Amino acid sequence: MLGARSNHLTGSPARASERSARRRAAVTAALCLAAVFVTFEGIDGSGKTTQARLLAEHLAGEGHDVVATREPGGTALGERVRELLLAGEEMSPWAEAALFAAARAELVARVIRPALERGADVVCDRYIDSSLAYQGIARGLGVDAVLDLNREAIGGLLPDRTILLLVEPARAAMRTGAGDRIERDGLWTALDLAYRELAELFPERIVALDGDRPPDVVASLVRQELAAHA
Ligand code: TYD
Repeated sequence: MLGARSNHLTGSPARASERSARRRAAVTAALCLAAVFVTFEGIDGSGKTTQARLLAEHLAGEGHDVVATREPGGTALGERVRELLLAGEEMSPWAEAALFAAARAELVARVIRPALERGADVVCDRYIDSSLAYQGIARGLGVDAVLDLNREAIGGLLPDRTILLLVEPARAAMRTGAGDRIERDGLWTALDLAYRELAELFPERIVALDGDRPPDVVASLVRQELAAHA
């Protein structure tokens, strides 16, 4: 009976199961092909640049079109803004936040959005969460205020997944070889706490991983994480 009904409405059971297998395959292919936007975050010395590179290489090795970029920078204007920001000149917190947002707006308009629209994956070393952690929390501008500024700048384009590498702050500070020990340990700890706060605020997007593990182990955790949410 069931077979006859199935024949009448949708063809034979065998044909129906073939069709559903084809449909499943098409959905899987669409999911695999859907461009993914992944950002890496963490305090300086957390190893995120290495992990961003390893993921981009892995995706390219799987045959994906991949655009790897970084912040601040990634465009001609962005690189000039980067020089201004990293030259060490004192600037007010809002001037700093606005410059980071300007570089980000340019990167989204010229690189990230066009790449995603043509179906390429985008892997970005730092993005909006850097501003939320450094300017919003560590420099005291407030997460909501910095989020508002950036929301407009990026036209609402948030990453599909943000990988946050958590490392022991003092070790990360040592790795970068920056400044006076006490001062830098304090700053790194404040930034570490800022990032942990963000991970709690945006649990659906930010995935915190133990960045103190060997780089190949971290890289495989990153791949597992992305596969689990494909
Ligand atoms: P960079 O040399 O690129 O360091 P890293 O390799 O750690 O990314 O310097 C970028 C610095 O700018 C870094 O200290 C973090 C900071 N930053 C902000 O304060 N706000 C931001 O929005 C971004 C993107 C970076």
